[in-house]
Amino acid sequence: MEMLYGEPEYLSPGGDAKTQSLIDLARLDRGLRVLDVGSGLGGSAFYLAQEQACRVHGIDLMTSNVAEAKRRAGLKILQGQVDFVSGDAVALPFSDQRFDVVWGQDAWCHVDDKATLIAEIKRVLVEGGQIVFSDWLVNKPEHIRASELYEVAASANMATLEMYQDLIRGEGLHIEACLDTSDDLRKEYHHVLARLRAFEASFVEQYGQKVFDIVLSTQQYMFDACEEGLLGSGSLVAKKL
Ligand SMILES: C[S@@+](CC[C@H](N)C(=O)[O-])C[C@H]1O[C@@H](n2cnc3c(N)ncnc32)[C@H](O)[C@@H]1O
Repeated sequence: MEMLYGEPEYLSPGGDAKTQSLIDLARLDRGLRVLDVGSGLGGSAFYLAQEQACRVHGIDLMTSNVAEAKRRAGLKILQGQVDFVSGDAVALPFSDQRFDVVWGQDAWCHVDDKATLIAEIKRVLVEGGQIVFSDWLVNKPEHIRASELYEVAASANMATLEMYQDLIRGEGLHIEACLDTSDDLRKEYHHVLARLRAFEASFVEQYGQKVFDIVLSTQQYMFDACEEGLLGSGSLVAKKL
């Protein structure tokens, strides 16, 4: 995924520029305590630590991603500013009111129980703290191919922006910003397909033709779903009052 998106240390499109755009959207101060839920290889955690002087904890379900994020953190001069643990977004292993910001970058689509996810996030946020995230979204849940999209995207309960807003408001949080970024995602998948074709030979040499064909057909599906307006993306910022 890191090769596909062309962004070192990210498993999602956009990389550091996307992280910065979320920082700007939320008007984040420097030096905050951040929890990155679904932290992957640590890209956004490293950026928040380096550029915003934040103290970042990352949590991810995949122990291999956590191990790799820790390894990469060890190669940087971050003076203990980042730490990664394995765990589930719906049972955060942190005490109440521990973080100024709960961050998510294109990861929560994979979390089925979004009501518990948002309740857990609220629990670990301080009063006045912010939830700041971007995600892949289903723009047309009534579409005949929506369930196929959920399967291809490994996102059984993919949300709409409205679903997220309802859940967040239901927890009593105040929505500060809400952006539909579907057009950016559509453009990004165009680049993903171009990248895949450009490194086809080295990819096949490393992983074999069968894996390449699966990856290509999955990414082509995601591109087509964007073009049809079925798949989209969005960013949201909300405050715990
Ligand atoms: C598309 S990747 C994005 C990773 C990272 N945020 C980034 O932008 O590079 C999604 C990540 O969410 C993690 N994930 C999926 N379900 C999760 C859950 N229930 N709890 C914690 N992490 C989860 C995956 O293991 C994966 O690392």
